[in-house]
Amino acid sequence: MTVTNRAGEPSGGRRPARYARATLAARAARVLRDNDTGTVITAAPRLYPHMWSWDAAFISVGLARLDLPRAIAELETLFRAQWRNGMVPHIVFTGDEDAYFPGPDRWGTDAAADGPRGVRTSGICQPPVHAIAVQRILEVARASGPQERAEAERFGRSIWPALYSWHRWLVEYRTPGHSGLIAIVHGWESGMDNSPRWDLPYAAVRPGAELPPYVRKDVRIVGDPSERPTDQEYDRYLWLIEEMRRAGYDQREVVRNSSFLVGDVFITALFAVSCDVLLELGSEFGRPASQLADLADWASRARHAVAASCHPVSGMARDRDLRANRWLDTQTIAGFAPLLCGGAPDEVQLRLLSLLDSDRWCGHPDLLAPVPPSVSPMRPGFNPRQYWRGPQWPVVAWLFGWAFERRGWHERARELRAAGLRLTGDGAFGEYYEPFTGEPLGSTDQSWTAAVVLDWLCDDDG
Ligand code: SER
Repeated sequence: MTVTNRAGEPSGGRRPARYARATLAARAARVLRDNDTGTVITAAPRLYPHMWSWDAAFISVGLARLDLPRAIAELETLFRAQWRNGMVPHIVFTGDEDAYFPGPDRWGTDAAADGPRGVRTSGICQPPVHAIAVQRILEVARASGPQERAEAERFGRSIWPALYSWHRWLVEYRTPGHSGLIAIVHGWESGMDNSPRWDLPYAAVRPGAELPPYVRKDVRIVGDPSERPTDQEYDRYLWLIEEMRRAGYDQREVVRNSSFLVGDVFITALFAVSCDVLLELGSEFGRPASQLADLADWASRARHAVAASCHPVSGMARDRDLRANRWLDTQTIAGFAPLLCGGAPDEVQLRLLSLLDSDRWCGHPDLLAPVPPSVSPMRPGFNPRQYWRGPQWPVVAWLFGWAFERRGWHERARELRAAGLRLTGDGAFGEYYEPFTGEPLGSTDQSWTAAVVLDWLCDDDG
């Protein structure tokens, strides 16, 4: 019997199908079109049937290659759901609210004093990659023609204040203590939901008996539930939501009392470089000097915090458990955060680059493509199929490639693009990939994968 995955291709071995570049681009465009509800491009057809914050940013980057007004509309829709205190929520619910769990009723954000009006959202955030997307849209539009350039600049100017207030929210509410790291109150905020990064802090989260019962939907959609977080992990996810709901999503209270509070080094690095980008855009748009000075200050503090987190021997950046007051030494892809934003001593960055190239990471001889896996294949507990515990994520490769290009490491950026295209060349657009066989896992037709593939293809083609 031939075992096939959900894309209908043989699984368990190397995948046979590889598409020519033009066909792959056409398939990626079709995924974005098919996932378009008319209001939003859903993150994935069944598993994620709404708008997710950082997904929307990547999706808009891909859309910029196809349809500039649609790319702009996507980010405008997300920012219309921005909370009145500045937070950009991690989910904007659209259409069938029952299609995903936890839906808006479970989040209970309607009663939150700081929530947006006229739209239902979750009550947490996701990584701040939106300024990066806006700058990318501008670059693509400028290369397209004067009309596109004018349209993208109008959009850039109009969204800039909302981006600034989103960054200010992260500083005002999410930099508690002295580490300077941006803190998360839920693993979902990191985007790397059940990464081993969070195992220790989650072990301290004790779901109360009052946790209302629930039924998961994700495990019914993903063919193999073992690729998803466990039920025990879900209890903790839901318990944290319960705590926040009871606090009315008052950020000060949430940060003071949440059972989970971790300084996230990957988000902090993304924040540093996003502040740089926002500063560049703000200078161009003539924004007030005081706001530009804020961004320079925030970028410098964040960069410093990332550098200060680096392990003295390995050089890898570390998260900090702000409840237990300790560094988290778990080595994952997030340890390479200083390569995104710079700021660590050259010697540390060189050590990280050679580690990234080594057989512990991208140079592992059995990888189908040298894309950084979420966890080193050499690490005990590495699981090549489970969410954030081993598989490769094309969007993470895109982020590193984007950062490498920005830092002038063009050859590295080109290599990562080529590796990403090798991984995704089967046209299934998996949410994540088994690193040895390249089997797409989680959802297929994932919008952000299609989007970054489009961006890679267009970049290579000039
Ligand atoms: N990634 C989460 C999920 O799996 C939501 O942010 O539902």
